Amino acid sequence: MGFRARILGAAAGGGLPQWNCGCQNCRLARDGAIPSLTQSSLAVTANGRDWAVLNASPDIRAQLTASRALAPTGLREVPIRSVLLTNGDVDHVAGLLTLREMQSFSLLATAGIHAVLNANPIFTALNPAVVTRAEVALDEPFALVPGLVATLFAVPGKVPLYLEGETVETQLIGEQTVGVRLEADGRTAFYIPGCAALTGDLAARLDGAEAVFFDGTLWTDDEMLRLGLGTKTGARMGHMSMSGPEGSITAFAGLNIAQKVYVHMNNTNPVLRPGSPERAEAEAAGWIIGADGLEITP
Ligand code: MLT
Ligand code: MN
Ligand code: ZN
Repeated sequence: MGFRARILGAAAGGGLPQWNCGCQNCRLARDGAIPSLTQSSLAVTANGRDWAVLNASPDIRAQLTASRALAPTGLREVPIRSVLLTNGDVDHVAGLLTLREMQSFSLLATAGIHAVLNANPIFTALNPAVVTRAEVALDEPFALVPGLVATLFAVPGKVPLYLEGETVETQLIGEQTVGVRLEADGRTAFYIPGCAALTGDLAARLDGAEAVFFDGTLWTDDEMLRLGLGTKTGARMGHMSMSGPEGSITAFAGLNIAQKVYVHMNNTNPVLRPGSPERAEAEAAGWIIGADGLEITP
């Protein structure tokens, strides 16, 4: 039992199907014609006994129930030692409220993301006597769980939707949107569920990794507009798309990464339909389309 990563939820905010959405994919998922997906989260371990959960999704209760490896090992004890946040978005923090039943763990995030949580008194539902909040500096490696070293680094993104002001910087580099480098047994994986652009620095950082879990929110930047489901492009939401000259398929094409896995996929994304030409194109470019419960060994 070495380094393992389990996708707890492969969908972006809303999930598949989303409660109020009647788009093609959500209808297919509701009918059982394509797999349903819960919202954005990854669990990692280096020994099979001590786990970290990366992002606490609103679906965490169902995700833990579906994961035997994360089942309780005692009367009020699960093998989750830490919960690490990559941003303050609702789909990544709302699940913290589910984790309030006196389970001890370390809640890890940048100072900037902790400030967002600290400004909201509802998160005091996590009793400070059992949940330790620890600030993690960018670019400084730390022990995430036994045998697994993590490093946070800034990626282009934006502040959470509920903190957007009049003007929004969508390619902000700082503490509000981070990626995670994970290293165990001399092997390296990255978790980057939200990213507005693959900069040269970021590409160099990822090159040579055993596995990368990457932002797969949209296939095309204007997908939600064209489907009549919203007014925002992917770029406006702080997400680079999969397809096109600016997309992640092209941006990753020259990189040497053994396993490239899309996560945080919006329910409108056509790759979520097995047999779609878009899925075939992504897979032909070497991408794995993430799914709930999928385990990757970096
Ligand atoms: C995102 O990934 O863009 C956000 O989770 C959107 C949201 O807050 O609903
Ligand atoms: Mn999201
Ligand atoms: Zn939908």
